[in-house]
Amino acid sequence: MTLQVTRVGRLNSDQVNSVLRSAMLAPSIHNTQPWLFRCTGSGIELHADPRRILPVTDPDGRELVLSCGAALFTLRTAIHALGFHPATTLMPSRADPDLLAVVRPLADRTPDPKVTRLARAIPRRRTNRRPFLPTPIPRSTLTTLRHATELEHAWMPSLDAEQCLLLRDLTARAHLDQLADPAFVAELVRWTRLGGHVRAGVPAYATDGSPADESWLLEEFGTPGDRARPLPLVVAIGSFSDGRLDRLQAGQALQRVLLTATSAGLDTSFISPPVRVPSARAEFRRLLGCGVWPQVLLRVGYGSPLPWTPRRPLEDVLLDTLVSA
Ligand SMILES: Cc1cc2nc3c(=O)[nH]c(=O)nc-3n(C[C@H](O)[C@H](O)[C@H](O)COP(=O)(O)O)c2cc1C
Repeated sequence: MTLQVTRVGRLNSDQVNSVLRSAMLAPSIHNTQPWLFRCTGSGIELHADPRRILPVTDPDGRELVLSCGAALFTLRTAIHALGFHPATTLMPSRADPDLLAVVRPLADRTPDPKVTRLARAIPRRRTNRRPFLPTPIPRSTLTTLRHATELEHAWMPSLDAEQCLLLRDLTARAHLDQLADPAFVAELVRWTRLGGHVRAGVPAYATDGSPADESWLLEEFGTPGDRARPLPLVVAIGSFSDGRLDRLQAGQALQRVLLTATSAGLDTSFISPPVRVPSARAEFRRLLGCGVWPQVLLRVGYGSPLPWTPRRPLEDVLLDTLVSA
């Protein structure tokens, strides 16, 4: 059976299929893939799927919305790379806050080569939890990542050496706080350590067989007081306030940063404890000192190649629009 989706505006059904499959390659918390798409005659709707919220790890769905924002940026990029303008309306319905965006592919245009490069990075991007090489990253690349964040109405605060050390200590403390919560650990284990046949969650091979307790994170980012050890490059993505719309924009900024890093030959992974544990997040915010709400903390560097993490079938994430042939 071949699945076909309807035409959407200027996109034929093959193009709709292709942009949806690209969007599904976005990163998501524990690879929950918490998104749903509905194709109308004129646009593609992106909905949050509240059934895929992680009640312990992400009780207010902040990371669910960030993940959907990453899928939205990917969808826009894939539409643009096909030569159409992705006219995007964020949160169009007060009555339905799970309708996060509508993207309407409008007039033909010559794709911007910079966007084409980002689109080529979509299938190559991975969350890479392996150790990174000590090779320094050019300053100009960091500037490019910062610019990528700002293009999506988010902010990448500068972190000086002292702030990085404080952040390392904060990460270690927040990580231990998480591990002290049996419900958190149970949820983490449920969504990791999976075999390759499972289409959601993080397969064991993506963490290189490291323990599900994410101790690889401390190996790489260091332990409190370990001041002699060089720190990896970390970048934070923040928003100016902390509502659903801000998180959606921060998610788009996240994916623009990740694809920009991938196209520059860099690897990335997430350092989540200081943005996930509420008290640690408040401390991180104070540490930044600029009023910005930290949404994501990423480790950036040169790593070794990884296999990809599986995705759910397209038919699982489509609302009402399926035509089977
Ligand atoms: C909001 C968000 C939070 C994430 N948090 C973590 C994390 O704490 N630890 C981790 O190893 N990966 C984290 N990830 C990465 C996901 O596990 C990863 O995107 C997913 O497994 C799919 O794999 P891929 O990114 O290689 O395509 C996060 C991703 C997102 C979008």
